[in-house]
This record gives sequence, C-alpha cells and structure tokens, in this order.
Amino acid sequence: MADLKTTLFGVSMSSPFILASGPLAYDATGLWEAYRAGAGGVTTKTLRLERAINPTPHMVVPRSSNLRATLFNTEKWADLPWEQWVERELPAMRGHPGLLIASIGHTPAEGEVIAGPVAATGVVDAIECVAYTKATIVDLVRRVREQAPQMPILAKLTFNWGDDLYPAAEAALKAGANGFTAIDSIGPTLQIDIETGQPTIGGAGNKAWMSGAAIRPVAQAVVAELATRFPGVPIVGTGGVIQAEDAVEMTMVGASAIGVCTAPLLRGLEWFERTHKALSAWLDSHNYGRLSDVRGAALRHLHVVEDTAPLTFVFEPLKCTKCDLCVVLCPYDARLMEGDKPKSLDLKQILLEDRCRYCGLCVEVCKPAALTYGNWPR
Ligand SMILES: Cc1cc2nc3c(=O)[nH]c(=O)nc-3n(C[C@H](O)[C@H](O)[C@H](O)COP(=O)(O)O)c2cc1C
Repeated sequence: MADLKTTLFGVSMSSPFILASGPLAYDATGLWEAYRAGAGGVTTKTLRLERAINPTPHMVVPRSSNLRATLFNTEKWADLPWEQWVERELPAMRGHPGLLIASIGHTPAEGEVIAGPVAATGVVDAIECVAYTKATIVDLVRRVREQAPQMPILAKLTFNWGDDLYPAAEAALKAGANGFTAIDSIGPTLQIDIETGQPTIGGAGNKAWMSGAAIRPVAQAVVAELATRFPGVPIVGTGGVIQAEDAVEMTMVGASAIGVCTAPLLRGLEWFERTHKALSAWLDSHNYGRLSDVRGAALRHLHVVEDTAPLTFVFEPLKCTKCDLCVVLCPYDARLMEGDKPKSLDLKQILLEDRCRYCGLCVEVCKPAALTYGNWPR
C-alpha cells in the first residue's frame, strides 16, 4: 500500500487528512473521536473571548441536486468558553497522536489573551489564526507570535478577500506565520425553499457560508497560487475534498496536508479510514509509492501565458453513440454530423471552422470520448 505518512512542522501524521475547525471539533471528545477514526491531525473549533451562541438551524444541505456534498452553515466559533478549552479540553488531549492545532480568532486582542495560555498547556502542536478581514489576520498572527514565540502558526485564508488574500498571506508570513490553511468556507450565500419562500437556514439575514464540493475548485486555485508564490511554505489545503481523487488533486496543486470538515460531517467519521484506503489504492494503481510523489505535480503545467492557438479534434466514429450532444450543445452552431448508425464508419463529423471558437464544450459533453483533442493539453 502506498505510504500516506505526512509530516507537518516536524510532527509525523499517519494520514494526510486533518479535521478542519468545525462542529466535529466541538470539544476534546470530538477531537479524540476524529483521531480514533483515522484523522492524522485535528483542529479545534475557533476559540474566542466570548463563547458562541449559534442561530438555529445552522447547517443545511443544498435543495438543488446539482450541488452534491455541499453544505451551508451559519455556525459561529466555539460554543465552549476558551477558559474551558485551556483548563479541560486541551489537557484532555495529552498523549494524542499526530498533529493538534488550536484555532484562535478573530481579533488581534483575542490572540493576545488566548494564545499564551493555549501554548502553555503544552499539548498543542500549532496555532491556526483565523480572522474576518485581511488586515486583522496579519495583526492577529503578530500578537500570537509574540505570545507563543516557539509555536508554529498557520494563517487561515479565505477567498472572501478575493485576490487581496495573497498580499495578506505575504504579510502574515512576515508577521510570523509558518504556513497557511486555505481556504475557509465561502460566502455569504443564500438559499430559499421554493415551496414556502422561506430561507432554509437560521441567522441574521439568513446568509450562510458554503463549504464542501462546490468550493473545491476555488480552494485549489488558491492553494496553487500560494504554492507558486511561496514555495516551501506548508499549506493545509482545505475546501471540498470529498473523495480520494479530490485529495490527489489538492496535493498535486501543492497542498502539504488536507483539511476536511464537510466530508466527515456529511459522510460520518468512517470517512477518514475509507478515504485513506481509497487514496492509498489510487496511488498504488498509478504506481506512486508515496503521496508526496504527486505533491505539486500540477504546478509546472500551469500556463503562465494565455494560449489562444486553435484546437485540433480527433473523431473516432466507432466510439460515437450518435447522441448528437456535440452538435446540439455547440453554442456557435459549428458542428454537423453525417450518418445515422451509431458506432459505425458511416458517421462523419464536420467542423465549420469559420464558426468554431474552440471553446471545447463539444469534447467535454462527449461521454464515450469519441471526440477528443489532437493538440490539448499542451
Ligand atoms: C458547520 C461549519 C462550521 C465551521 N466552523 C469553523 C470555525 O469555527 N473556525 C474555522 O476556522 N472554520 C470553520 N469552518 C470552516 C472549515 O474549517 C473549512 O475551512 C471549510 O468548511 C472548508 O472545508 P470543507 O469544504 O472540507 O468543509 C466551519 C465549517 C463548517 C461547515
């Protein structure tokens, strides 16, 4: 079986999967359960000076079947007082395997008060700083660094800051961060039940944060950009990893470890072991001995310069089921098909080159892969 051992900040983990800050990390019991289920590391709910009182309900799934394995939430930070975390929950984690990350937010003042006592418990391996704004993340990191000089610090980044997150990431490193967690859930979002016209989730304004499958492409774009701009800086790639192949992709764009919140929430804690095995099997079947063999593999393929050269197409009539989607769905009416008999040499694809914009939709919708590119990827 391929080796999935992962090391972060000198701490060895049996699995690359880290439980991200969220409901399953509600207290020490939740963290231990995640370890027992196979998580390589765990992150606490975010500790703040005031305990959270959450709106009800605060977790809903999408009503649209087009958004599978996605979640909306209006859950706040830890609903246990931070003092209880320091006095009871974190000490109860003594002897834990793998990595234990304490999440602290959201203001610099909170970092200043909470980070020292958290570090003094002696059981935490790293602190994750999470903030609502790009300005406060940098000051938060600075204060935590002052209070916990020896502690590895992860700056948690959110795409809600848009491209401004990269200067914030750089500033966070200068302020003392040692790595990144990317990304937080995305929002605000809004979902309505069309039978009642009512919002599906509780909370002021009913605006929710979205996590899970729908955000993975965004998370991966951020991870790839961070890995490119800050080579060698550890990144806990977080956002929408639901199955083993997602973890491969996240690692290929540069993640050092993989944070997961929604997958074990929606699939149960058994998800950790199941996905660990599936990931190992995928690596075996592709002749990789270790997960680290694929780390960053996609980065060198990312195009720096835009490529506008026309595409060439290959049509294999014996594979074509004559579903005609390539013709029907072409937005530019650039495709014609001759012949009626599926999977026969009668079939001929005609491309009207003066109409074709080489968007690629025809290839994408061809399920039997009868239509492919001659010169892509390049
Ligand atoms: C219900 C819920 C509660 C969350 N609470 C926190 C939190 O307290 N602190 C935090 O930094 N992130 C929190 N997150 C964000 C997750 O840690 C993670 O960054 C995000 O969900 C993306 O990962 P995923 O797609 O695997 O869920 C929460 C996410 C969910 C779904």
